[in-house]
Amino acid sequence: MQMEDVNDLLEYQSNPEIVRYIPWPPRTLEQVKTAAEDVVNTCTFQLKEDKDYIVLVWALKSTGKVIGQSNMGLVSKENKCANIGWVTHQDFQRQGYALEASKALLNYAFTNTDVHRVIADIDSRVPHSASLAEKLGMRREATFLDGEFFKGEWCDMWLYAILKREFQA
Ligand SMILES: CC(C)(COP(=O)(O)OP(=O)(O)OC[C@H]1O[C@@H](n2cnc3c(N)ncnc32)[C@H](O)[C@@H]1OP(=O)(O)O)[C@@H](O)C(=O)NCCC(=O)NCCS
Repeated sequence: MQMEDVNDLLEYQSNPEIVRYIPWPPRTLEQVKTAAEDVVNTCTFQLKEDKDYIVLVWALKSTGKVIGQSNMGLVSKENKCANIGWVTHQDFQRQGYALEASKALLNYAFTNTDVHRVIADIDSRVPHSASLAEKLGMRREATFLDGEFFKGEWCDMWLYAILKREFQA
């Protein structure tokens, strides 16, 4: 993510439908700039210490337009566990971009870092996000009833996970 991406980021980060189940408000241009600055200044691009994280945007090869983003953060150095998340611009959904990007990020993490297990916390009101996790080979391991108090209401959360050996197989 770079500061010159902000106009592309604004297109989807300001969309109330896109951010409904992710922990941001619909962002203004100023908020997008602040969030991008935060990534530029604090993203570690490695997963060695607790709270290290990676954010990568997805740019179309043809035009360079940014049409989505992935994040991965180290949850526990001791347990070699990271989490993953995904967002696709509203005009570019159902074209396989989240699948392609998430596979690439999982491959990167399991090949180039010490990560042993990757989890995804998925709001049960977003079954298509769970379908994406399943398409990536992730397994639903738990349902947490009222697992999060999110944007003013309780929601049930699904825990998805995949191990390095499962991904590599
Ligand atoms: C979830 C999200 C990232 C999927 O992105 P996407 O680029 O459209 O996904 P892909 O095109 O790579 O789809 C991969 C698979 O995910 C599943 N999927 C994605 N969107 C789906 C939908 N609307 N309905 C059903 N399944 C869906 C399918 O299994 C799909 O494979 P298929 O097209 O061969 O059936 C996107 O809908 C999004 O950004 N939503 C808003 C942000 C969000 O809610 N993030 C997750 C919070 S838990």
